[in-house]
Amino acid sequence: PQTIRLAVIPGDGIGPEVVAEAVKVLDAVTAGSDLAFEKTPFSLGAARYLETGDVLTDADLASIAEHDAILLGAVGGVPGDPRLANANIERGLLLKLRFSLDHYVNLRPTTLFPGIASPLANPGDVDFVVVREGTEGPYVGNGGAIRQGTPHEIANEVSVNTAYGVERVVRYAFEQAESRRKKLTLVHKTNVLTFAGGLWKRIVDAVAAEHPDVAVDYLHVDAATIFLVTNPARFDVIVTDNLFGDILTDLAAAISGGIGLAASGNINPAGDFPSMFEPVHGSAPDIAGQQKADPTAAILSVALLLRHLGAPELAERVEAAVTADLATRAADSAAAARRTAEIGDAIAAGVAQN
Ligand code: NAD
Ligand code: IPM
Ligand code: MN
Repeated sequence: PQTIRLAVIPGDGIGPEVVAEAVKVLDAVTAGSDLAFEKTPFSLGAARYLETGDVLTDADLASIAEHDAILLGAVGGVPGDPRLANANIERGLLLKLRFSLDHYVNLRPTTLFPGIASPLANPGDVDFVVVREGTEGPYVGNGGAIRQGTPHEIANEVSVNTAYGVERVVRYAFEQAESRRKKLTLVHKTNVLTFAGGLWKRIVDAVAAEHPDVAVDYLHVDAATIFLVTNPARFDVIVTDNLFGDILTDLAAAISGGIGLAASGNINPAGDFPSMFEPVHGSAPDIAGQQKADPTAAILSVALLLRHLGAPELAERVEAAVTADLATRAADSAAAARRTAEIGDAIAAGVAQN
């Protein structure tokens, strides 16, 4: 069998709880397959910082980069914890990984699984994917403050959009559309953010000319939030910048059964660096350590990992077992009360049988 070196970063809060179940399902689905996983655990996150003062050392980063792929739970402490005020775990760890490993595609699929209750009365057939840019935009840290702490403070946070960076993610989004229902929606705010929006719009129009069979439309981000609630079935592929994509994908999770089901991949398509798979949710300090977290998002992230590694049949087995488990939990009140590890057990048993 082919051996995949997998870096595993359980992280903080519910991260270790959901990653344990994701690994359980990964082991179950790959048993007897052509893929073997050699896993290296990395202790990173707020807990590690509080213990050692390190967020992500150069040695950590170099060692992670030697792997074929990364599975991450969630990082970040309790928002507002004064001991973490100067740590900036999100920027120094999560964003540092995404930027250093050139994860320019942040792929976030949204599906309303059978039996799952959406908060929307008539959600329709929800099945779309957000292609969120992952290395640019307002996330780059191109900011600063002058006269900080005074009434005359000026705080800047500049959104950086390069033609190179936008074009490569737009091309990826068109390829996704080609393999799906051939519809692509650019979401931006061209009416106000004229420079960045103008660049995105011109690039989408130019690449669209190479994909005459893909229907392209455009929505301002504020209007996109309306349609995600009133008619999410209209979407197939959404391509958007880093910040808009962050916000829209929590909304997408909410309409499709909740943040506990939303998976993502931080992808470097050329394979120059390992791609990283993680739930969309955070460390959920409010439910951490109680076996209350739904590990489904982490488990579906394993399916994205398997598809990325060129094993779509293993990915489909994970997705089928998740679909069956969600249907059981929706139909049966005892199953609905399952705890984190019990959900993982049920899905692992499902993949062992399917
Ligand atoms: P969060 O996603 O951690 O939690 C939001 C709400 O969703 C909470 O009520 C939580 O209990 C619930 N929730 C989240 N995941 C769940 C699951 N699997 N099952 C059931 N319920 C779930 O967002 P937050 O509270 O804004 O952030 C908490 C910490 O996580 C912060 O430090 C934040 O910066 C960090 N964060 C990390 C990541 C990441 O590592 N990728 C992503 C988002 C937030
Ligand atoms: C996410 C998270 C991160 C983001 C934070 C924790 C940096 O919200 O993965 O969606 O904004 O990308
Ligand atoms: Mn987010």
